[in-house]
Amino acid sequence: MGRDVIIACDFSDAGTTLEFLSRFGERKPFVKIGMELYYSAGPDIVKKIKDLGCRIFLDLKLHDIPNTVKKTAAVLSRLDVDMTNLHAAGGSVMMSAAAEEIKSSGAKTKLIAVTQLTSTSEVALRDELLISASMEETVAAYARLAMKSGLDGVVCSPLEAGKVHAVCSPEFLTVTPGVRFDEESRGDQTRIATPARARELGSDYIVVGRPITASPDPVAAYERCMREFVD
Ligand code: C5P
Repeated sequence: MGRDVIIACDFSDAGTTLEFLSRFGERKPFVKIGMELYYSAGPDIVKKIKDLGCRIFLDLKLHDIPNTVKKTAAVLSRLDVDMTNLHAAGGSVMMSAAAEEIKSSGAKTKLIAVTQLTSTSEVALRDELLISASMEETVAAYARLAMKSGLDGVVCSPLEAGKVHAVCSPEFLTVTPGVRFDEESRGDQTRIATPARARELGSDYIVVGRPITASPDPVAAYERCMREFVD
């Protein structure tokens, strides 16, 4: 896997998603299927997008007791997606159970952990989640725990990618949402960076939703991300 742009296809039905992807013609973008689309369209949409030749990040952010997550990982491994994830906040026992399940299934799926959502601010971390460590320390500690639990990488902000590589390893994947072309369009994201800045900061993958999906010209917005982040 190399540096790439992942489009967050946050649509609520299969028809809209497939129509959106048809605009990309011969390009085969790496696609993120999140909760909204998966809960509405089910495993069928995974198969349909795979059949288009796109790679898939199935972003379901599992977070439950270890036994439930392990059994869910077994079911998801049959979909043979390129990447899927869980919340590091579920702890090391939960993460190892899922990692072992995926490895023993023979699937090539990379398992990554959400450290802290990119919509969470330092203030919310302290006042709502009652975590007194800084965001950077928290993300680094969760990333280390994920690595020790046998995971392949983490979801974090581009702002934290360098720190994660430093405390884990350069090969430990950093998959980074919270990407915006400019400050005005941050929306509900708080820890953001441009594609070019994410590249400088060492992100391996940027996950880009609304800057592409809500653009009047999604293909041009995707090409801009590719130019600034990959080329
Ligand atoms: O539209 P936008 O670019 O903000 O989309 C970002 C995508 O990344 C969304 O699908 C969101 O669920 C996901 N995500 C995130 N922050 C995380 C993990 C996933 O924004 N920490």
